[in-house]
Amino acid sequence: MVVARSTVTVASAPTRFNRADWASAFRNVEQELSQVPVRVASGTVPVELEGCLYRNGPGRLERGGQSVHHPFDGDGMITAVQFAAGEARCSNRFVRTEGWEAEEQAGRFLYRGVFGTQKPGGAMANAFDLRLKNIANTHVVRLGDQLLALWEAAEPHALDPASLETRGLSRLDGVLSKGEAFSAHPRFDPGHHGSPRMVTFGVKTGPRSTIRLMEFATEDDAAAGIRAGDLLCDRRDSFNGFAFLHDFAITPNWAVFLQNAVAFNPLPFVMGQKGAAQCLASKPGGQAMFWLVPRDSGAHAGEEPRLVPAPEGFVFHHVNAWEENGALVIDSIHYSDFPSIGPDVDFRAVDFDSIPEGLLKRCSIDLASGQCSTELLGERCCEFAMVNPAEQGLKARYAWMAVAEREQGNDPLQAIQKRDAQTGATRVWSAAPRGFVSEPIVVARLGGTAEDDGWVLVPVWNGAREATDLVILRADDLSEQAVLELPLAIPHGLHGSWVAGPVMV
Ligand code: CO
Repeated sequence: MVVARSTVTVASAPTRFNRADWASAFRNVEQELSQVPVRVASGTVPVELEGCLYRNGPGRLERGGQSVHHPFDGDGMITAVQFAAGEARCSNRFVRTEGWEAEEQAGRFLYRGVFGTQKPGGAMANAFDLRLKNIANTHVVRLGDQLLALWEAAEPHALDPASLETRGLSRLDGVLSKGEAFSAHPRFDPGHHGSPRMVTFGVKTGPRSTIRLMEFATEDDAAAGIRAGDLLCDRRDSFNGFAFLHDFAITPNWAVFLQNAVAFNPLPFVMGQKGAAQCLASKPGGQAMFWLVPRDSGAHAGEEPRLVPAPEGFVFHHVNAWEENGALVIDSIHYSDFPSIGPDVDFRAVDFDSIPEGLLKRCSIDLASGQCSTELLGERCCEFAMVNPAEQGLKARYAWMAVAEREQGNDPLQAIQKRDAQTGATRVWSAAPRGFVSEPIVVARLGGTAEDDGWVLVPVWNGAREATDLVILRADDLSEQAVLELPLAIPHGLHGSWVAGPVMV
């Protein structure tokens, strides 16, 4: 069933949200903190909340008086909030990438950014400079004794999980070759085949594209001689056409990729007029495809991938996928077109109405017939959705996501929504008018049995304080458990993860 869009009257963008508050988050982070106690402004931090919230995102948006063209071009900065005994401590560090070190020394941009940032000097200075700066700004996860700062076009940077000091580029004990693409969107299999794993991929794109699917152990298993971080499964599959794959999803038997119908025209990039990502455009009349790759840990190990026509539009992020009654079902956030900021637009002044909003849709793929049907699940603009980590790859009842304050149309993300897939009911906590949310992270209560027993950790840009709050919501009813005033002003961020357990010293 597709929900028809009703006609509603909405306020024009300038009155819908406070643009000055929203834009005030785009600033350089000037300090690096170590274990600074965090002030609890209201509520109490649950004593059972023990572990570390790691977040990644752009932290350096300006050099030598020049702004990045798009915040996604900002250098990666890791924030860690460690929780123990009802208290929280905050640390942050920039990832010491080669580009960051060189540009810090020079005091200006030395590299072009994928999203359109150019070196000073115009097209002449940028033409034929096709180097990419690994800015390590997209996601941060724990694997073995490493913290990995991820950026999808090249290998990860390894960091010390406690001090956040950069150890350097990592090829994961020889798994990756030099400069090999390694996705910023690993999925954590909670134990579909016994022990938990990190499943991830790398894409080598071209007229034919190759996906490398990798599964890593996330726990030591002394009896089997396996250490956390060991590669357990590794397969490569090639597909026709250019591939732009930011995210994917897993079920016990499948890795699910959605190849959007996009074309890449590299000429403006080569000629120094556009960043590489600005050369992506929807391909009119193109056919999007689901690529279903059998997991080598699953029931279809060794089989060929299956290709299924997918709906048109554009997807960055998936929520979750699962198998049910001979179908593979995947919930994703769909855009009607590829959203891009052109070369002449200041992102701080971007017209939200000119950019398509993200909408939650469900695709059900009948595995026998290869037919896909699509259902719109809600009309509210959303991004950054997740299920309880124990339900990853399984049929989850609840999902939590960032949403816009108004119920239709594109706007900045200001609220958190919990959606009940069984009833379709939604519940919302809002940071409006002066708060703007980043990706919510769901933390299950240890020993809890209900799927929504736990908390949702939400970084909120507080426009009144011009700094970042960390809001702890109860996962079940989204009531406020605590508001922590971080001693940092963190630009609107990208992805993060929770590592449970005793805080490291
Ligand atoms: Co992402």
